[in-house]
Amino acid sequence: MYVCICNAITEDEIRAVAQSGVRDLWTLQKELGVAAGCGTCKESAMQVLKEAEQPHATRMPAEPRMYSPSAA
Ligand code: FES
Repeated sequence: MYVCICNAITEDEIRAVAQSGVRDLWTLQKELGVAAGCGTCKESAMQVLKEAEQPHATRMPAEPRMYSPSAA
């Protein structure tokens, strides 16, 4: 899936760069050109980079809400 439309950069390309040790947007930008155009992909690119750093991390589910009849 494309992350950066301006420069046609995919999630896989960002993951590959992350595996080579890139950990910040500045270096990612230098390596791939991501977020070097309009910049709207910056947050998504950082998210992919973060997830690539922690491949086994799981997202915490939202805390369950308790039903309370008295609050209704
Ligand atoms: S979508 Fe990445 S710079 Fe525009």
